[in-house]
Amino acid sequence: MKRVAALAVVSMVVAVGAGLMCAQVVNQAPAAPGGRGQGGRGGGGMGAFPQHPPADPAVVARGKAVYGVNCQFCHGADARGGEGGPNLIRSEIVMNDENGEHIAPVVQNGRPDAGMPALNLTPAQISDVAAFLHSFRVNGRDASRDRPPSVLVGDPQAGQQYFQARCASCHSPTGDLKGIAAKFSDPKALQQTWLAPGGGGRGGPAANVPPVTVTVTLASGQKVQGRLLRMDDFTVTLEADGATRSFIRNGDTPKLEIHDPLEPHRQLLPVYTDKDIHNVTAYLATLK
Ligand code: HEC
Ligand code: HEC
Repeated sequence: MKRVAALAVVSMVVAVGAGLMCAQVVNQAPAAPGGRGQGGRGGGGMGAFPQHPPADPAVVARGKAVYGVNCQFCHGADARGGEGGPNLIRSEIVMNDENGEHIAPVVQNGRPDAGMPALNLTPAQISDVAAFLHSFRVNGRDASRDRPPSVLVGDPQAGQQYFQARCASCHSPTGDLKGIAAKFSDPKALQQTWLAPGGGGRGGPAANVPPVTVTVTLASGQKVQGRLLRMDDFTVTLEADGATRSFIRNGDTPKLEIHDPLEPHRQLLPVYTDKDIHNVTAYLATLK
């Protein structure tokens, strides 16, 4: 019985794939049904989406590995989103991207207010990830899709061991993280909060995240320190003693030193495996 069901799924995927191929090759073909119809852009079949020539499989495999470590736990194994991050295959940014040039700014700067941390990847790694993302059919559905039904699929004991090794230098289950599971009763929010604390948005504010501060050293040698409010290529704005101050940036002047208390977390992100993530979340879920 199981086998029959599996076959049915496979042939459905093939049928959808074939339909899309037709729409691509024969210009006048009636519009393909557009996969599952989510997203609403489909309508006219694949013609509306940019086509990427098939990439070197070795590059795609490399990108898949980088993606698996850095992106998968938020954007899903098939990049169609769901684990806290949006669908990337239908993302305007990804669709307009050729070699990572549009993806790179998002990855390197992150969208800290929206739950996407900045990730320290090289342009070459991002271009590999881009090749991997472009290897998906925009409207297709990947048969290898294997998202677990819940994020609580890990082993809490293994998670506890991992916690002792990697987290206990800064956190304690009976101290600052006591009751964390009660605070974030949705396991996805719980997972999000330890993967990217201070990410904001999901599951309520991260209570004790200290602010990012900056030390500005002026040409005169004078130093001004305060909470970083805003920074771009041209200005830096900080708050010190209740007042807001802005400084024009001109290359390396004034000199800036950013102190981000969450830097250690960001450095841990690429270290976790999917398994570690599930185990740690399962363990934290026991801290009621
Ligand atoms: C901790 C979770 C998390 C991780 C890890 C993560 N992302 Fe994201 N990503 C998000 C969230 C949340 C958003 C949506 C931000 C918003 O709403 O502006 C996002 C947005 C994006 C966008 C913009 C989509 C759009 O159309 O606006 C791109 C591109 C992207 N991520 C790529 C990546 C890549 C590539 C990686 C790995 C190198 C990665 N992300 C890792 C959570 C994450
Ligand atoms: C080098 C220190 C350091 C390490 C290692 C570290 N963290 Fe953190 N963590 C912080 C800081 C700093 C914050 C922000 C302040 C706070 O909320 O305590 C934070 C925040 C958090 C939060 C959010 C707390 C809240 O109340 O919203 C969770 C959950 C968390 N970390 C879990 C972990 C886990 C799990 C690990 C190990 C995989 C880990 N941390 C490793 C320093 C660290």
